Amino acid sequence: MSEAMQALVANARLGYSLEQQFYTSEAVFKADMERVIGRKWLVAGHVSRIPNKGDYFLFRIGAEQIIVIRESEASVRAFFNVCRHRGSTICAADSGNAPRLVCPYHAWTFGLDGRLLAARLMPEDFDKAENGLFTCHIRVFHGLVFINLSADEPDDFDATFGDVGPILEYHGLADARIAHAGSYPTDANWKLVVENFFECYHCVPSHPEFCSIHAAESIVAVGAGPSSGPADAIASFAPKLQAWEASAAALGRPIGTIDEPPTSSHLRLLMQRMNKPGWASETQDGTPPAPLMGQRTAPDGGRMHLSFSPFSQIVADDHFVILFQFTPRSALRSDVEMIWLVDGRASEAEVDLAKMTWGYHATTTQDKVITEANQAGIMSSRYQPGRYSDQEGSVINFQQWYLNHFGPAAEK
Ligand code: FES
Ligand SMILES: [Fe+2]
Repeated sequence: MSEAMQALVANARLGYSLEQQFYTSEAVFKADMERVIGRKWLVAGHVSRIPNKGDYFLFRIGAEQIIVIRESEASVRAFFNVCRHRGSTICAADSGNAPRLVCPYHAWTFGLDGRLLAARLMPEDFDKAENGLFTCHIRVFHGLVFINLSADEPDDFDATFGDVGPILEYHGLADARIAHAGSYPTDANWKLVVENFFECYHCVPSHPEFCSIHAAESIVAVGAGPSSGPADAIASFAPKLQAWEASAAALGRPIGTIDEPPTSSHLRLLMQRMNKPGWASETQDGTPPAPLMGQRTAPDGGRMHLSFSPFSQIVADDHFVILFQFTPRSALRSDVEMIWLVDGRASEAEVDLAKMTWGYHATTTQDKVITEANQAGIMSSRYQPGRYSDQEGSVINFQQWYLNHFGPAAEK
């Protein structure tokens, strides 16, 4: 780690936003890729995008492009989109189908297992077996495609995520289908995108639609996680939350919270709570936009936020799930993708897309605007770290988690 980076980390002040360079510097971004982003299990998409052999999609992150491709009914593989000849990218389209991966430059041809099958006019001593595509760690878990860019052995997947399996199963994630996808590319550093998502201090001034469908007390107390609000607000909300948890558990919902500390590998978070009274789902009028999902036999009026890491989030109502992907691209650019999933058995006629997307399309469009404005202000010579409120507890947690990757404990 460079001395400049060490000094930056050492100067970070607990309870305050970070120094400018953390949000603006390409050198810091490079360090983020090496120490944080490149070592995490990240959700790249839902497996229903690639139902047939040879179906693929590209997942772009930092300077990397990962080809996620179906090798067979039972196997999904991930490869770096880098030809082993002279390095050209192989797949250009965001998604498609390819029986073989053929480099467009000199036509080296790779199988769906990544092996080099054909390379024209190569010297006799050239060994095709040593020139397969570079593989990327991949795991499909309840329909979610996780990748890990690490060149080393990554964190054990099951030890990291196994405990949320029953929750994903209850929500029917493995058999869900994609009803809609939205892209909200944001001209801001990835930490600003995450910080914005990890606090609901901004919800009242910035999100009229969101606030119209959620009780104010739940937004303040637990709007961005079990410990995101002021302690007294959390305490006064607790009895109502416990009453809802009991009723939801009686209907079969796996109950529980996760609120991992900054020393954890993925800073996972699970918050389940009731929607506003009278709101069966997060729609404008509260009525369901789609059939019940997964194993439910009756609605419980709940809302779940499950964060696999700061980069990969799920928000789930009884009737639909939104997968949020916050994908760092460069110091000043992040991709924000949303995928709306419905029960795999739901017909198109049963899903009201406009109703389902109304709330979070508006909210995420607003988040893009405020996050880009945050970035623009941070570029100023007059920016300096500012004090966090009592409703930004999850942001402080995130910041400590991030900084831990550069502290002595993270030294390797
Ligand atoms: S760079 Fe791919 S075949 Fe030459
Ligand atoms: Fe927001």
